[in-house]
Amino acid sequence: YPPERIRNFSIIAHVDHGKSTLADRLLELTGTIKRGHGQPQYLDKLQVERERGITVKAQTATMFHRHTVGGTNSSDKQDSPSFLLNLIDTPGHVDFSYEVSRSLAACQGALLVVDAAQGVQAQTVANFHLAFESNLTIIPVINKIDQPTADPERVKSQLKSLFDLDPEDALLTSAKTGKGLDQVLPAVIERIPSPDGKRDSPLRMLLLDSYYDEYKGVICHVAVVDGALRKGDKIGSAATSQTYEVLDVGIMHPELTSTGVLFTGQVGYVVSGMRSTKEARVGDTLYHAKFTVDPLPGFKPAKHMVFSGLYPADGSDFDALNHAIERLTCNDASVSVMKETSTALGMGFRCGFLGLLHMDVFHQRLEQEYGARVISTIPTVPYIFEYADGSKIQVQNPAALASNPGKRVAACWEPSVIATIIIPSEYVGPIITLCSERRGEQLEYSFIDSQRALMKYRLPLREIIVDFYNELKSITSGYATFDYEDSEYQKSDLVKLDVLLNGQPVDAMATIVHSLKAQRVGRELVDKLKKLIDRQMFDITIQAAIGSKVVARETLSAMRKNVLAKCYGGDVTRKKKLLEKQKEGKKRMKRIGSVDIPQEAFHELFKIS
Ligand code: GTP
Repeated sequence: YPPERIRNFSIIAHVDHGKSTLADRLLELTGTIKRGHGQPQYLDKLQVERERGITVKAQTATMFHRHTVGGTNSSDKQDSPSFLLNLIDTPGHVDFSYEVSRSLAACQGALLVVDAAQGVQAQTVANFHLAFESNLTIIPVINKIDQPTADPERVKSQLKSLFDLDPEDALLTSAKTGKGLDQVLPAVIERIPSPDGKRDSPLRMLLLDSYYDEYKGVICHVAVVDGALRKGDKIGSAATSQTYEVLDVGIMHPELTSTGVLFTGQVGYVVSGMRSTKEARVGDTLYHAKFTVDPLPGFKPAKHMVFSGLYPADGSDFDALNHAIERLTCNDASVSVMKETSTALGMGFRCGFLGLLHMDVFHQRLEQEYGARVISTIPTVPYIFEYADGSKIQVQNPAALASNPGKRVAACWEPSVIATIIIPSEYVGPIITLCSERRGEQLEYSFIDSQRALMKYRLPLREIIVDFYNELKSITSGYATFDYEDSEYQKSDLVKLDVLLNGQPVDAMATIVHSLKAQRVGRELVDKLKKLIDRQMFDITIQAAIGSKVVARETLSAMRKNVLAKCYGGDVTRKKKLLEKQKEGKKRMKRIGSVDIPQEAFHELFKIS
C-alpha cells in the first residue's frame, strides 16, 4: 500500500460515549472481525477493562476498505481501490491521557465521538485539545442518536461554540443500531490526510507501545514514518544504541498477522529479540543500524501523580509479589517501582502511578492476573520539602520524613492541577462549595449552552485523589464530568500525621496533610481504626499525632475471644472447623507490633481526606 492509500486514525471520546462499540462496528463492517463474535469490545482486551467497561491500554487494529474517493455509486465497490486503515483505540479515563497523546502521535486524524444525549463532557474538551495540538484532522461523530433523549442539534452547537467545528461536518451515528455507520469510513478516507513520510529515505519508526508475550517475547507496536522495514533487517534504537535483528514483522488484523514487511505510513508490530520491555522505550526511534538518522520527536514521559506502598499480604510472599510486579510492569511501563522497607509491613515496593484509577487497576491486575495478595498503603502525592539548611527532598512516602528528625522544615510545596468540570447549571452552587472545601481556587466559570456550565479550578492534587470524583458525582446526581491536567507546585503548609498503636508509630499509616485539616483527619483516622480493629487480649491505644503533639486518641479495651465457648459438648469436628475458621480469619490479619490489624483497614484508610 502506498502512503496515499493509508489512513491512520484514532477514536477519542469522553468515557462511555461509545468509542469501543464504534471501533467494534468498524472492525465488523470491514470483515476484520466477525459480526457477533461473542466478545463485545474486541479492543478492550484486559479483564479489568471488560469488568469496569473502561479502556486502559490503547490497542491498534488494521482494516481494509474499498472506496472510490468522490464516488457515489456503491455497485462498483469491487472495482474501487482498497485502503489500509489503522485504527488506534485510546483509553477514555483521565488517568490515561498520556496513552492518548501517545496514540495520537501515530495518527493524522481522529473521530471525536460525542454522546448525542449527554453532549460535550469534560474529557471531550481535554481530548479535543490533545488532538488539536497534534494538528490532527478532527471528524465530529455524534453517536447514540437512537436514544430517546438524543439532541444532535444541541451537540452541534456545542461543537461549534467550544471547538469551532462546522456543524455540517458532524456525522450522526448509532453504534447500537448501525445507523449512519456507513458514512464513517468514507469520511475517514476522504477527510483525513495520508501519512506524509518519505518512502525513499532511510527507515525511521516510532515505538508506540510494547508488551511481553510468553511465546514471542517483547512485541513492539511501531509506526513507520520513513522508509520500510523487512524481516531480517538489523535495526538500532536511538535511545539505547542497542541493535537487534527483526525476527518477525506484521500488522494487527486484529491478531498479529505476519507480513514480512511494513512500508512508509504503516502501523504494525515488530519482534526483534528484545529480552525485556525495559529495552523498548516508548517514544524511541528505531532505524536501520547501517544508517544514522535524526531521532523523531518522542513523547513527554509519563508523570507519576500518585504513590503508594505495595506489600505482600503475607510477609513470606515477597518473592512472589516481586515476580508479579516485574511481569506486570513489562506490560505497563507507566508504573514506577522502587523497593522499600516498612517497619510495620516488612519488605515491599513504592510504586508511582498516573492517577488513582491507574493505581486501582494495577492492584486489581496484580491480584487477578498474577494471584498476588497485596496490601497497599494510603496513596500520597509527591511533595517537596525544604529544610532550614537549604536542602530539598521530594517525598513520595510520608515515612521518609522521619528519617530526618533533626532537620527543621523551612518550606513545603504540593503539586496542583487545573480541573475542568462540566455540569448542568443548577449544580453550580454545590460545586463551588465542594471545591472550596478542597482548597480550590476558581479560574473560570462560563456556560457552554443554556443548560450547562463549565468551571475551571486550581486544586491541590492531594485533594482530588481522595474521593473527589465520587463526591462530585454524588452531589450532582452523576451529571458532573471532570478532567484535569497537572499544573505547577504551590507553596503549602503541610504536616506529617502519624498513627500510633500502643505508642508505636505505624509507618505504613502515616500521611501528609494540610495543617488546617490535620485535626479532623487525625480524628477520622483514629475513629475508623477503632471500628476496624478487633478487640484483643490487651488494651490498645490508638493515637494520631503531629510530632509529639497528639491530636486524637481512643482506647480499644481488652476482650478475650474464645471461639470454642459456643461448643459445649465434645464434638471434635465442630471444634476443628471453628479453629480452622479462626485460622483463616487470622490469615487476613497483619500483625503490627503486638496488634493484629485486618488487611481491609489499610484500604479503608484511603477514604479519609
Ligand atoms: P471507554 O472504553 O471506557 O472509554 O468507553 P467507550 O467510550 O468505549 O464506551 P463503550 O463503547 O464501552 O460504550 C458505552 C456504553 O454505551 C455501552 O453500554 C454501549 O453498549 C453503549 N453504546 C455505545 N454506542 C451506542 C449507541 O449508539 N446507542 C446506544 N443506545 N448505546 C450505545
